[in-house]
Amino acid sequence: MLAVCVDVPGGPENLRVGTVPKPRPKDGEVLIKVHATALNRADTLQRRGLYPPPPGESDILGLEVAGTVAEVGPGVRGPWVPEERVMALLCGGGYAEYVAVPEELLLPVPPGLTLCQAAAVPEAWLTAYQLLHLVGNGYAGEVVLVHAGASGVGTAAVQLARLAGAVPVVTAGSAQKVDAAVALGAAAGFLHSQGDFADGVLGYTGGHGADVILDCVGGTMWERNVRCLAVDGRWVLYGTLGGKAVQGDLLGHLLKKRGRLITSLLRSRSLQYKADLVKAFSERALPFFTDPHQPALKPVIDSVFDLQDIGEAHKHMEANRNKGKIVVIVTPQNQGGE
Ligand SMILES: NC(=O)c1ccc[n+]([C@@H]2O[C@H](COP(=O)([O-])OP(=O)(O)OC[C@H]3O[C@@H](n4cnc5c(N)ncnc54)[C@H](OP(=O)(O)O)[C@@H]3O)[C@@H](O)[C@H]2O)c1
Repeated sequence: MLAVCVDVPGGPENLRVGTVPKPRPKDGEVLIKVHATALNRADTLQRRGLYPPPPGESDILGLEVAGTVAEVGPGVRGPWVPEERVMALLCGGGYAEYVAVPEELLLPVPPGLTLCQAAAVPEAWLTAYQLLHLVGNGYAGEVVLVHAGASGVGTAAVQLARLAGAVPVVTAGSAQKVDAAVALGAAAGFLHSQGDFADGVLGYTGGHGADVILDCVGGTMWERNVRCLAVDGRWVLYGTLGGKAVQGDLLGHLLKKRGRLITSLLRSRSLQYKADLVKAFSERALPFFTDPHQPALKPVIDSVFDLQDIGEAHKHMEANRNKGKIVVIVTPQNQGGE
């Protein structure tokens, strides 16, 4: 089968479409014929050799796919049937024509979504759902500050916060990205590159601050984060795009707010944890994607690339140009009933 190979870790030019053996579904796994995958920042780190897959997992890049069921492996207990449209959260292996997935990590594609849209759902939306509900414990009425509000995870978090009755506010790197997040439901947005977003958040909330901060930036933003964190607020760190080092009185400021700094990674979690997350998301969020005319939740697609152009897709992401998800079509003819 065709797959994206990285023979030598490095830049986007090191991504090569080659031929590798087709996986066979093991006990409890379903083989998916992939229509599309979507990019994640983790892919760019793995390409550079900085984020290896968990032990025993595929070393092919790609954390999410949508496609059709090609084969149901031995011991599968769920209702999955050949040709069914599915999407899946992966530990790796998505940049390929076929991927074998534990059945617990499969989700049915909601009727209103194409497979191209569905490929943009699993990683970003499950991450956002987990951060908001399982890690940050956001409640209705609380203010949730979402950094990188127009990112893949950010566009999902804004919509999920709204759905939960919380008040999402965002930061972003351009006015166009702020506008995109506001169009999705953000109550306010601030440029992280100009002025001080902490003043913006404190001003917007009448001095209360953000009850929850979903932070994929880290280092460069810590002072502003802790300044605009509400008393008893939860600051959820899930990425370090702005660096890992912190200098200064972080602990003193955090203590004054009785703030909680919580970190989270999804890929390294156990299969059981991910299965519980997929179940919760399927029951409580997936139904809101279904209305084809006015869905409460919708995946935001920035752009669609062909598999042969995977290097260009990575460059696009690393230049911070995307608003929403970058989708890559793996098997154009596998439309799965679209
Ligand atoms: N922990 C987990 O379980 C988990 C799971 C999935 C993703 N993640 C992390 O979540 C983050 C977002 O992922 P994604 O796939 O949604 O990314 P994405 O769509 O590529 O968006 C990332 C955005 O972050 C902003 N950004 C980049 N560098 C920045 C910096 N130095 N300071 C401030 N903002 C910066 C840029 O937007 P602006 O132009 O608005 O600045 C960029 O477009 C990544 O760090 C990823 O590794 C973590």
